[in-house]
Amino acid sequence: MNDAKVQIGVNKLGHHVQSSQNRLLIKGGKVVNDDGIQEADVYVEGGVIKQVGTGLLTPGGVRVIDAAGMLIMPGGIDPHTHMQMPFMGTHSADDFYTGTRAALAGGTTMIIDFVACPRGDSLMDWYNKYRAWADEKVCCDYGLHVIVPQWGDKTANEMATLVKEKGINSFKCFMAYRNVFLLEDDEMLNVFQACRKLGAVAQVHAENGKIIERKAEQLVADGIRGPEGHSYSRPEAMEIEATTRALAIADEANCPLYVVHVMSAEAGEAISKARRRGQVCYGEPIAAGLACDNSSYQHTCWRHAAGHVLSPPLRDPSTKERLWRMLATGELTCTGTDHCVFKADQKALGKDDFRRIPNGVNGVEDRMSVLWEKGVETGILDPCQFVAATSTNAAKVFNLYPQKGRIAVGSDADIVTHHQNVDFNIFEGMVCHGIAEFVISGGRLVVDERQLKVTQGAGRFVPMPAFPPYVYNRLEKREAAKSAGTVAVARDAYDGPVIDLKAEQ
Ligand code: URP
Ligand code: ZN
Ligand code: ZN
Ligand code: ZN
Repeated sequence: MNDAKVQIGVNKLGHHVQSSQNRLLIKGGKVVNDDGIQEADVYVEGGVIKQVGTGLLTPGGVRVIDAAGMLIMPGGIDPHTHMQMPFMGTHSADDFYTGTRAALAGGTTMIIDFVACPRGDSLMDWYNKYRAWADEKVCCDYGLHVIVPQWGDKTANEMATLVKEKGINSFKCFMAYRNVFLLEDDEMLNVFQACRKLGAVAQVHAENGKIIERKAEQLVADGIRGPEGHSYSRPEAMEIEATTRALAIADEANCPLYVVHVMSAEAGEAISKARRRGQVCYGEPIAAGLACDNSSYQHTCWRHAAGHVLSPPLRDPSTKERLWRMLATGELTCTGTDHCVFKADQKALGKDDFRRIPNGVNGVEDRMSVLWEKGVETGILDPCQFVAATSTNAAKVFNLYPQKGRIAVGSDADIVTHHQNVDFNIFEGMVCHGIAEFVISGGRLVVDERQLKVTQGAGRFVPMPAFPPYVYNRLEKREAAKSAGTVAVARDAYDGPVIDLKAEQ
Protein backbone atom coordinates (compact mmCIF):
# COMPACT_ATOMS: atom_id res chain seq x y z
CA MET A 1 0.00 0.00 0.00
CA ASN A 2 2.34 2.73 1.17
CA ASP A 3 6.02 2.48 0.49
CA ALA A 4 6.99 5.08 3.08
CA LYS A 5 8.99 3.85 6.07
CA VAL A 6 6.85 2.54 8.89
CA GLN A 7 7.86 2.63 12.53
CA ILE A 8 5.78 0.46 14.79
CA GLY A 9 5.82 0.55 18.55
CA VAL A 10 3.13 -0.14 21.07
CA ASN A 11 2.50 2.88 23.19
CA LYS A 12 1.33 1.25 26.42
CA LEU A 13 0.20 4.48 28.00
CA GLY A 14 -1.74 5.29 24.89
CA HIS A 15 -2.70 8.60 23.51
CA HIS A 16 -1.93 10.82 26.44
CA VAL A 17 1.83 10.36 26.62
CA GLN A 18 3.43 13.73 26.06
CA SER A 19 6.87 14.77 25.02
CA SER A 20 8.39 17.72 23.22
CA GLN A 21 7.50 15.74 20.08
CA ASN A 22 3.91 16.50 20.97
CA ARG A 23 4.49 20.24 20.98
CA LEU A 24 4.27 21.33 17.41
CA LEU A 25 4.24 24.69 15.72
CA ILE A 26 3.03 24.62 12.14
CA LYS A 27 4.35 27.80 10.66
CA GLY A 28 3.77 29.86 7.56
CA GLY A 29 0.86 28.01 5.95
CA LYS A 30 -2.73 28.79 5.18
CA VAL A 31 -5.38 27.34 7.47
CA VAL A 32 -8.37 26.01 5.54
CA ASN A 33 -11.68 25.38 7.30
CA ASP A 34 -15.02 24.72 5.63
CA ASP A 35 -15.97 28.37 6.06
CA GLY A 36 -12.80 30.20 5.15
CA ILE A 37 -9.06 30.40 4.59
CA GLN A 38 -6.68 32.34 6.79
CA GLU A 39 -2.93 32.80 6.93
CA ALA A 40 -2.05 31.55 10.39
CA ASP A 41 0.33 29.46 12.44
CA VAL A 42 -1.05 26.59 14.48
CA TYR A 43 0.33 25.57 17.86
CA VAL A 44 -0.42 22.09 19.17
CA GLU A 45 0.18 20.70 22.62
CA GLY A 46 -1.18 17.69 24.48
CA GLY A 47 -3.10 16.45 21.48
CA VAL A 48 -5.12 19.65 21.20
CA ILE A 49 -4.88 22.82 19.10
CA LYS A 50 -3.88 25.52 21.61
CA GLN A 51 -3.37 28.55 19.40
CA VAL A 52 -4.19 29.66 15.87
CA GLY A 53 -2.93 33.01 14.63
CA THR A 54 0.12 35.05 13.75
CA GLY A 55 3.02 36.01 16.00
CA LEU A 56 2.23 33.23 18.46
CA LEU A 57 4.21 32.98 21.70
CA THR A 58 5.21 29.36 22.20
CA PRO A 59 7.43 27.55 24.73
CA GLY A 60 10.92 26.34 23.88
CA GLY A 61 11.65 22.80 22.68
CA VAL A 62 8.91 22.91 20.13
CA ARG A 63 9.14 21.04 16.84
CA VAL A 64 8.59 23.62 14.13
CA ILE A 65 7.05 22.47 10.88
CA ASP A 66 7.70 24.78 7.98
CA ALA A 67 4.40 24.92 6.16
CA ALA A 68 5.29 27.73 3.76
CA GLY A 69 3.30 27.21 0.57
CA MET A 70 1.13 24.60 2.18
CA LEU A 71 -2.50 24.35 3.13
CA ILE A 72 -3.23 23.27 6.71
CA MET A 73 -6.51 21.38 6.90
CA PRO A 74 -8.51 19.30 9.35
CA GLY A 75 -7.52 15.65 9.04
CA GLY A 76 -9.89 13.59 6.94
CA ILE A 77 -12.76 11.72 8.53
CA ASP A 78 -13.74 8.60 6.61
CA PRO A 79 -17.26 7.81 7.83
CA HIS A 80 -17.44 4.45 6.06
CA THR A 81 -14.85 1.68 6.46
CA HIS A 82 -14.94 -2.05 7.14
CA MET A 83 -11.73 -3.24 8.80
CA GLN A 84 -11.34 -7.00 9.47
CA MET A 85 -15.03 -7.42 8.75
CA PRO A 86 -16.37 -10.99 8.72
CA PHE A 87 -18.14 -11.02 5.37
CA MET A 88 -19.07 -13.50 2.64
CA GLY A 89 -17.26 -16.35 4.37
CA THR A 90 -13.99 -14.50 4.95
CA HIS A 91 -12.64 -11.32 6.63
CA SER A 92 -11.73 -8.08 4.91
CA ALA A 93 -7.95 -8.04 4.69
CA ASP A 94 -7.08 -4.74 6.35
CA ASP A 95 -7.37 -4.95 10.11
CA PHE A 96 -7.64 -1.98 12.45
CA TYR A 97 -3.84 -1.64 12.43
CA THR A 98 -3.06 -1.84 8.71
CA GLY A 99 -6.28 -0.01 7.86
CA THR A 100 -5.71 2.98 10.14
CA ARG A 101 -2.03 3.07 9.18
CA ALA A 102 -3.15 3.40 5.56
CA ALA A 103 -5.70 6.04 6.57
CA LEU A 104 -3.03 8.17 8.22
CA ALA A 105 -0.66 7.78 5.27
CA GLY A 106 -3.36 9.37 3.13
CA GLY A 107 -4.27 12.19 5.53
CA THR A 108 -7.33 10.61 7.14
CA THR A 109 -7.10 10.93 10.91
CA MET A 110 -10.38 9.34 11.93
CA ILE A 111 -12.41 6.45 10.58
CA ILE A 112 -15.91 5.41 11.50
CA ASP A 113 -16.23 1.67 11.04
CA PHE A 114 -19.28 -0.60 11.27
CA VAL A 115 -19.97 -3.20 13.94
CA ALA A 116 -21.10 -6.01 11.64
CA CYS A 117 -23.43 -8.12 13.73
CA PRO A 118 -24.83 -11.06 11.76
CA ARG A 119 -28.53 -11.90 12.03
CA GLY A 120 -29.36 -13.72 15.25
CA ASP A 121 -26.40 -12.38 17.24
CA SER A 122 -26.29 -9.77 20.00
CA LEU A 123 -25.43 -6.20 18.98
CA MET A 124 -23.73 -5.72 22.33
CA ASP A 125 -21.51 -8.81 21.94
CA TRP A 126 -20.39 -7.62 18.53
CA TYR A 127 -19.85 -4.07 19.75
CA ASN A 128 -17.58 -5.44 22.49
CA LYS A 129 -15.79 -7.64 19.99
CA TYR A 130 -15.13 -4.69 17.69
CA ARG A 131 -13.92 -2.52 20.57
CA ALA A 132 -11.50 -5.25 21.62
CA TRP A 133 -10.24 -5.70 18.05
CA ALA A 134 -9.88 -2.00 17.39
CA ASP A 135 -8.70 -0.54 20.70
CA GLU A 136 -5.39 -2.36 20.69
CA LYS A 137 -4.74 -1.83 17.01
CA VAL A 138 -5.88 1.60 15.86
CA CYS A 139 -3.21 4.11 14.92
CA CYS A 140 -5.76 6.94 14.65
CA ASP A 141 -9.02 7.83 16.39
CA TYR A 142 -12.10 5.88 15.43
CA GLY A 143 -15.81 5.70 16.02
CA LEU A 144 -18.35 2.99 15.31
CA HIS A 145 -21.72 2.71 13.60
CA VAL A 146 -23.73 -0.44 14.38
CA ILE A 147 -25.43 -2.61 11.75
CA VAL A 148 -28.90 -3.78 12.82
CA PRO A 149 -29.67 -7.12 11.12
CA GLN A 150 -33.01 -7.88 12.81
CA TRP A 151 -35.76 -6.31 14.86
CA GLY A 152 -37.19 -7.29 18.25
CA ASP A 153 -37.31 -6.25 21.91
CA LYS A 154 -33.73 -7.34 22.48
CA THR A 155 -32.54 -5.24 19.53
CA ALA A 156 -34.50 -2.23 20.80
CA ASN A 157 -32.96 -2.57 24.26
CA GLU A 158 -29.46 -3.04 22.90
CA MET A 159 -29.81 -0.02 20.62
CA ALA A 160 -30.82 2.07 23.64
CA THR A 161 -27.85 0.88 25.69
CA LEU A 162 -25.46 1.47 22.82
CA VAL A 163 -26.64 5.06 22.48
CA LYS A 164 -26.91 5.86 26.18
CA GLU A 165 -23.75 4.13 27.39
CA LYS A 166 -21.47 3.16 24.52
CA GLY A 167 -20.92 6.20 22.31
CA ILE A 168 -23.03 5.02 19.37
CA ASN A 169 -25.26 7.47 17.49
CA SER A 170 -25.90 5.77 14.18
CA PHE A 171 -27.36 2.46 13.05
CA LYS A 172 -27.24 0.96 9.58
CA CYS A 173 -29.93 -1.06 7.84
CA PHE A 174 -29.29 -3.22 4.80
CA MET A 175 -31.86 -3.65 2.04
CA ALA A 176 -29.63 -6.32 0.44
CA TYR A 177 -27.78 -9.51 1.53
CA ARG A 178 -30.73 -11.73 2.46
CA ASN A 179 -30.35 -14.03 5.50
CA VAL A 180 -27.35 -12.03 6.68
CA PHE A 181 -28.30 -8.38 6.99
CA LEU A 182 -31.42 -7.68 4.88
CA LEU A 183 -34.34 -6.02 6.70
CA GLU A 184 -37.94 -5.98 5.51
CA ASP A 185 -39.66 -2.59 5.19
CA ASP A 186 -41.55 -2.89 8.47
CA GLU A 187 -38.40 -3.96 10.32
CA MET A 188 -36.63 -0.95 8.88
CA LEU A 189 -39.48 1.29 10.03
CA ASN A 190 -39.02 -0.10 13.55
CA VAL A 191 -35.29 0.61 13.47
CA PHE A 192 -35.87 4.13 12.11
CA GLN A 193 -38.46 4.86 14.79
CA ALA A 194 -36.05 3.60 17.44
CA CYS A 195 -33.31 5.83 16.01
CA ARG A 196 -35.62 8.84 16.10
CA LYS A 197 -36.48 8.19 19.74
CA LEU A 198 -32.85 7.75 20.73
CA GLY A 199 -31.54 10.72 18.76
CA ALA A 200 -29.53 8.57 16.39
CA VAL A 201 -28.93 8.82 12.65
CA ALA A 202 -30.22 5.92 10.55
CA GLN A 203 -28.05 4.71 7.71
CA VAL A 204 -29.04 2.56 4.80
CA HIS A 205 -27.40 0.34 2.19
CA ALA A 206 -30.00 0.93 -0.50
CA GLU A 207 -30.36 -1.85 -3.05
CA ASN A 208 -33.34 -4.11 -3.70
CA GLY A 209 -31.60 -7.29 -2.58
CA LYS A 210 -34.38 -9.72 -3.39
CA ILE A 211 -34.80 -8.69 -7.02
CA ILE A 212 -31.02 -8.63 -7.42
CA GLU A 213 -30.84 -12.18 -6.12
CA ARG A 214 -33.36 -13.35 -8.72
CA LYS A 215 -31.54 -11.56 -11.48
CA ALA A 216 -28.22 -13.08 -10.42
CA GLU A 217 -29.72 -16.58 -10.46
CA GLN A 218 -30.97 -16.02 -13.99
CA LEU A 219 -27.61 -14.71 -15.18
CA VAL A 220 -25.80 -17.75 -13.78
CA ALA A 221 -28.40 -20.04 -15.39
CA ASP A 222 -27.69 -18.23 -18.66
CA GLY A 223 -23.98 -18.96 -18.28
CA ILE A 224 -22.75 -15.54 -17.12
CA ARG A 225 -20.45 -16.36 -14.23
CA GLY A 226 -17.74 -13.69 -14.44
CA PRO A 227 -17.53 -10.36 -12.53
CA GLU A 228 -19.54 -8.61 -15.26
CA GLY A 229 -22.50 -10.63 -13.94
CA HIS A 230 -22.18 -8.77 -10.62
CA SER A 231 -22.79 -5.51 -12.41
CA TYR A 232 -25.58 -6.87 -14.68
CA SER A 233 -27.38 -8.32 -11.67
CA ARG A 234 -27.47 -5.00 -9.80
CA PRO A 235 -28.95 -2.44 -12.20
CA GLU A 236 -29.21 1.18 -11.19
CA ALA A 237 -32.98 0.93 -10.99
CA MET A 238 -32.56 -1.37 -7.96
CA GLU A 239 -30.53 1.28 -6.17
CA ILE A 240 -32.89 4.10 -7.14
CA GLU A 241 -35.94 2.12 -6.01
CA ALA A 242 -34.40 1.18 -2.65
CA THR A 243 -33.12 4.71 -2.02
CA THR A 244 -36.57 6.15 -2.71
CA ARG A 245 -38.22 3.52 -0.50
CA ALA A 246 -35.77 4.11 2.37
CA LEU A 247 -36.36 7.87 2.16
CA ALA A 248 -40.13 7.36 2.33
CA ILE A 249 -39.85 5.03 5.33
CA ALA A 250 -37.46 7.40 7.11
CA ASP A 251 -39.79 10.32 6.48
CA GLU A 252 -42.64 8.28 7.92
CA ALA A 253 -40.56 7.70 11.06
CA ASN A 254 -39.36 11.33 11.16
CA CYS A 255 -35.90 9.85 11.33
CA PRO A 256 -32.81 11.44 9.80
CA LEU A 257 -31.43 9.22 7.06
CA TYR A 258 -27.86 8.92 5.79
CA VAL A 259 -27.59 6.94 2.55
CA VAL A 260 -24.19 5.27 2.34
CA HIS A 261 -22.28 4.66 -0.88
CA VAL A 262 -24.49 6.52 -3.34
CA MET A 263 -23.31 4.99 -6.61
CA SER A 264 -26.16 6.05 -8.89
CA ALA A 265 -26.66 9.68 -9.93
CA GLU A 266 -30.42 9.20 -9.96
CA ALA A 267 -30.30 7.78 -6.45
CA GLY A 268 -28.39 10.93 -5.56
CA GLU A 269 -31.13 12.96 -7.17
CA ALA A 270 -33.75 11.15 -5.11
CA ILE A 271 -31.87 12.29 -1.99
CA SER A 272 -31.57 15.79 -3.36
CA LYS A 273 -35.32 15.95 -4.08
CA ALA A 274 -36.11 14.76 -0.57
CA ARG A 275 -33.84 17.47 0.82
CA ARG A 276 -35.71 20.04 -1.25
CA ARG A 277 -38.95 18.77 0.28
CA GLY A 278 -37.37 19.49 3.64
CA GLN A 279 -36.47 15.98 4.68
CA VAL A 280 -33.42 15.64 6.92
CA CYS A 281 -31.30 13.28 4.85
CA TYR A 282 -27.78 12.98 3.55
CA GLY A 283 -25.99 11.16 0.75
CA GLU A 284 -22.46 9.80 0.77
CA PRO A 285 -20.68 9.16 -2.51
CA ILE A 286 -17.47 7.17 -2.12
CA ALA A 287 -14.04 7.62 -3.67
CA ALA A 288 -14.57 4.62 -5.97
CA GLY A 289 -17.83 6.01 -7.33
CA LEU A 290 -16.28 9.44 -7.87
CA ALA A 291 -13.21 8.13 -9.69
CA CYS A 292 -14.00 4.78 -11.34
CA ASP A 293 -16.66 3.31 -13.62
CA ASN A 294 -18.19 0.05 -14.78
CA SER A 295 -15.86 -0.45 -17.74
CA SER A 296 -13.63 -2.39 -15.32
CA TYR A 297 -16.17 -5.23 -15.19
CA GLN A 298 -15.55 -5.81 -18.90
CA HIS A 299 -11.79 -6.19 -18.33
CA THR A 300 -10.50 -9.53 -19.69
CA CYS A 301 -8.23 -9.98 -16.66
CA TRP A 302 -10.42 -11.71 -14.04
CA ARG A 303 -8.39 -10.29 -11.15
CA HIS A 304 -8.83 -6.76 -12.42
CA ALA A 305 -12.57 -7.12 -12.96
CA ALA A 306 -13.14 -8.89 -9.62
CA GLY A 307 -11.00 -6.25 -7.88
CA HIS A 308 -13.69 -3.70 -8.74
CA VAL A 309 -16.59 -5.76 -7.39
CA LEU A 310 -18.47 -3.85 -4.71
CA SER A 311 -22.13 -3.22 -3.99
CA PRO A 312 -23.81 -1.22 -5.34
CA PRO A 313 -21.49 -1.63 -8.34
CA LEU A 314 -19.65 1.05 -10.29
CA ARG A 315 -21.89 2.72 -12.86
CA ASP A 316 -21.48 4.06 -16.38
CA PRO A 317 -18.78 6.68 -16.97
CA SER A 318 -21.17 9.65 -16.96
CA THR A 319 -22.18 8.99 -13.35
CA LYS A 320 -18.99 10.29 -11.74
CA GLU A 321 -19.45 13.81 -13.09
CA ARG A 322 -23.05 13.97 -11.88
CA LEU A 323 -22.09 12.77 -8.39
CA TRP A 324 -19.33 15.37 -8.29
CA ARG A 325 -21.73 18.16 -9.21
CA MET A 326 -24.13 17.09 -6.46
CA LEU A 327 -21.28 17.11 -3.97
CA ALA A 328 -20.35 20.62 -5.08
CA THR A 329 -23.90 21.93 -4.69
CA GLY A 330 -24.33 20.32 -1.29
CA GLU A 331 -27.02 17.91 -2.53
CA LEU A 332 -24.66 15.15 -1.39
CA THR A 333 -23.00 15.77 1.95
CA CYS A 334 -20.07 13.55 2.89
CA THR A 335 -17.52 11.36 1.14
CA GLY A 336 -16.50 7.96 2.42
CA THR A 337 -14.68 5.02 0.91
CA ASP A 338 -16.48 1.85 2.03
CA HIS A 339 -12.89 0.59 2.36
CA CYS A 340 -13.33 -3.18 2.53
CA VAL A 341 -10.43 -4.94 0.84
CA PHE A 342 -9.97 -8.56 -0.15
CA LYS A 343 -6.81 -10.12 -1.53
CA ALA A 344 -6.76 -11.99 -4.83
CA ASP A 345 -7.12 -15.41 -3.19
CA GLN A 346 -10.16 -14.14 -1.29
CA LYS A 347 -11.79 -12.60 -4.35
CA ALA A 348 -11.10 -15.98 -6.00
CA LEU A 349 -13.80 -17.57 -3.83
CA GLY A 350 -15.99 -16.37 -6.69
CA LYS A 351 -13.79 -17.43 -9.58
CA ASP A 352 -16.57 -19.62 -11.02
CA ASP A 353 -19.56 -17.65 -9.75
CA PHE A 354 -19.63 -13.87 -9.35
CA ARG A 355 -22.12 -14.21 -6.48
CA ARG A 356 -19.31 -15.51 -4.27
CA ILE A 357 -16.79 -12.75 -4.99
CA PRO A 358 -16.38 -10.90 -1.68
CA ASN A 359 -17.76 -7.39 -2.22
CA GLY A 360 -15.47 -4.48 -1.49
CA VAL A 361 -12.73 -2.16 -2.73
CA ASN A 362 -9.97 0.01 -1.27
CA GLY A 363 -9.95 3.76 -0.70
CA VAL A 364 -9.07 4.76 2.86
CA GLU A 365 -5.53 5.74 1.89
CA ASP A 366 -6.51 7.22 -1.45
CA ARG A 367 -9.67 9.23 -0.75
CA MET A 368 -8.07 12.55 0.18
CA SER A 369 -5.68 12.66 -2.77
CA VAL A 370 -8.22 11.30 -5.25
CA LEU A 371 -10.77 13.88 -4.13
CA TRP A 372 -8.26 16.67 -4.30
CA GLU A 373 -7.18 15.62 -7.77
CA LYS A 374 -10.62 14.96 -9.25
CA GLY A 375 -12.45 17.64 -7.29
CA VAL A 376 -10.19 20.58 -6.55
CA GLU A 377 -7.70 20.42 -9.43
CA THR A 378 -10.64 20.31 -11.84
CA GLY A 379 -12.34 23.35 -10.32
CA ILE A 380 -15.40 21.47 -9.08
CA LEU A 381 -14.72 22.11 -5.38
CA ASP A 382 -12.78 24.90 -3.73
CA PRO A 383 -10.46 23.99 -0.84
CA CYS A 384 -13.14 24.92 1.72
CA GLN A 385 -15.65 22.61 0.05
CA PHE A 386 -12.98 19.92 -0.02
CA VAL A 387 -12.60 20.24 3.75
CA ALA A 388 -16.38 20.12 4.18
CA ALA A 389 -16.72 17.01 2.02
CA THR A 390 -13.79 15.11 3.50
CA SER A 391 -14.05 16.08 7.16
CA THR A 392 -16.32 18.82 8.53
CA ASN A 393 -19.66 17.54 7.27
CA ALA A 394 -19.07 14.05 8.66
CA ALA A 395 -18.06 15.64 11.98
CA LYS A 396 -21.33 17.58 12.01
CA VAL A 397 -23.64 14.73 11.01
CA PHE A 398 -22.12 12.32 13.54
CA ASN A 399 -21.81 14.90 16.32
CA LEU A 400 -18.04 15.14 16.48
CA TYR A 401 -17.90 18.82 15.62
CA PRO A 402 -15.95 20.96 16.51
CA GLN A 403 -13.78 18.43 18.35
CA LYS A 404 -13.12 17.03 14.88
CA GLY A 405 -13.47 18.59 11.45
CA ARG A 406 -12.08 22.01 12.32
CA ILE A 407 -8.77 23.78 12.85
CA ALA A 408 -9.58 25.91 15.88
CA VAL A 409 -8.46 26.42 19.46
CA GLY A 410 -9.71 23.48 21.54
CA SER A 411 -10.18 21.11 18.63
CA ASP A 412 -8.31 17.82 18.49
CA ALA A 413 -4.95 18.18 16.80
CA ASP A 414 -5.88 16.09 13.76
CA ILE A 415 -4.25 18.01 10.97
CA VAL A 416 -3.03 17.39 7.47
CA THR A 417 -0.80 19.64 5.46
CA HIS A 418 -1.22 19.41 1.81
CA HIS A 419 1.44 19.73 -0.76
CA GLN A 420 0.88 18.86 -4.29
CA ASN A 421 1.65 15.15 -5.51
CA VAL A 422 0.42 11.03 -4.42
CA ASP A 423 -0.84 -4.82 -4.18
CA PHE A 424 -4.09 -3.93 -6.17
CA ASN A 425 -5.34 -0.46 -6.14
CA ILE A 426 -8.43 0.59 -8.07
CA PHE A 427 -6.96 4.08 -8.34
CA GLU A 428 -3.64 2.78 -9.68
CA GLY A 429 -2.22 4.88 -12.46
CA MET A 430 -3.98 8.06 -11.42
CA VAL A 431 -1.55 10.92 -11.09
CA CYS A 432 -2.41 12.95 -8.02
CA HIS A 433 -1.20 16.41 -7.13
CA GLY A 434 -2.31 16.37 -3.53
CA ILE A 435 -0.63 14.25 -0.94
CA ALA A 436 -0.13 14.58 2.76
CA GLU A 437 3.29 16.01 3.55
CA PHE A 438 2.71 16.14 7.29
CA VAL A 439 -0.09 14.41 9.17
CA ILE A 440 -0.79 15.05 12.84
CA SER A 441 -3.07 12.64 14.65
CA GLY A 442 -4.05 13.41 18.23
CA GLY A 443 -1.05 15.76 18.35
CA ARG A 444 1.39 13.07 17.20
CA LEU A 445 3.34 13.69 14.04
CA VAL A 446 2.52 10.48 12.17
CA VAL A 447 3.58 11.51 8.69
CA ASP A 448 6.75 13.56 8.84
CA GLU A 449 7.87 14.81 5.43
CA ARG A 450 6.04 11.84 3.93
CA GLN A 451 7.68 9.37 6.32
CA LEU A 452 5.07 7.29 8.07
CA LYS A 453 5.63 6.91 11.84
CA VAL A 454 2.52 5.38 13.29
CA THR A 455 2.00 3.78 16.70
CA GLN A 456 -0.22 0.76 17.05
CA GLY A 457 -2.91 1.33 19.68
CA ALA A 458 -2.31 5.08 19.92
CA GLY A 459 -5.73 5.99 18.56
CA ARG A 460 -8.78 6.34 20.78
CA PHE A 461 -12.39 5.33 20.51
CA VAL A 462 -14.32 8.58 20.15
CA PRO A 463 -17.86 8.38 21.52
CA MET A 464 -20.44 10.02 19.28
CA PRO A 465 -23.22 11.59 21.39
CA ALA A 466 -26.92 11.32 20.54
CA PHE A 467 -28.99 14.13 19.01
CA PRO A 468 -26.38 15.78 16.76
CA PRO A 469 -27.58 19.41 16.67
CA TYR A 470 -26.69 19.75 12.98
CA VAL A 471 -29.18 16.94 12.28
CA TYR A 472 -31.80 17.19 15.00
CA ASN A 473 -32.31 20.91 15.61
CA ARG A 474 -34.33 21.30 12.44
CA LEU A 475 -35.81 17.82 12.50
CA GLU A 476 -37.69 18.36 15.73
CA LYS A 477 -39.36 21.55 14.45
CA ARG A 478 -40.17 19.90 11.13
CA GLU A 479 -41.72 16.93 12.87
CA ALA A 480 -43.99 19.22 14.89
CA ALA A 481 -44.97 21.17 11.76
CA LYS A 482 -45.68 17.96 9.84
CA SER A 483 -47.91 16.45 12.51
CA ALA A 484 -49.82 19.71 12.99
CA GLY A 485 -52.05 18.85 9.99
CA THR A 486 -52.80 15.31 11.16
CA VAL A 487 -55.95 15.71 13.26
CA ALA A 488 -59.20 13.78 13.34
CA VAL A 489 -62.12 15.53 11.61
CA ALA A 490 -65.05 16.32 13.93
CA ARG A 491 -68.26 14.96 12.38
CA ASP A 492 -71.50 13.18 13.30
CA ALA A 493 -71.20 9.40 13.49
CA TYR A 494 -72.66 7.42 10.58
CA ASP A 495 -75.92 5.89 11.82
CA GLY A 496 -77.27 4.18 8.68
CA PRO A 497 -77.30 0.44 7.95
CA VAL A 498 -74.12 -1.71 7.55
CA ILE A 499 -74.19 -4.82 5.35
CA ASP A 500 -73.87 -8.19 7.01
CA LEU A 501 -70.73 -9.82 5.55
CA LYS A 502 -71.88 -13.31 6.57
CA ALA A 503 -75.14 -12.88 4.66
CA GLU A 504 -73.08 -11.94 1.56
CA GLN A 505 -71.45 -15.41 1.25
O1 URP B 1 -19.35 -4.03 -1.54
C1 URP B 1 -19.37 -3.49 -0.44
N1 URP B 1 -19.94 -2.32 -0.36
N2 URP B 1 -18.80 -4.10 0.63
C2 URP B 1 -18.83 -3.69 1.95
C3 URP B 1 -20.12 -3.95 2.63
C4 URP B 1 -21.14 -2.91 2.31
O2 URP B 1 -22.12 -3.23 1.66
O3 URP B 1 -20.99 -1.76 2.69
ZN1 ZN C 1 -23.12 -1.31 1.93
ZN1 ZN D 1 -5.29 -6.93 -14.43
ZN1 ZN E 1 -19.98 -0.46 3.55
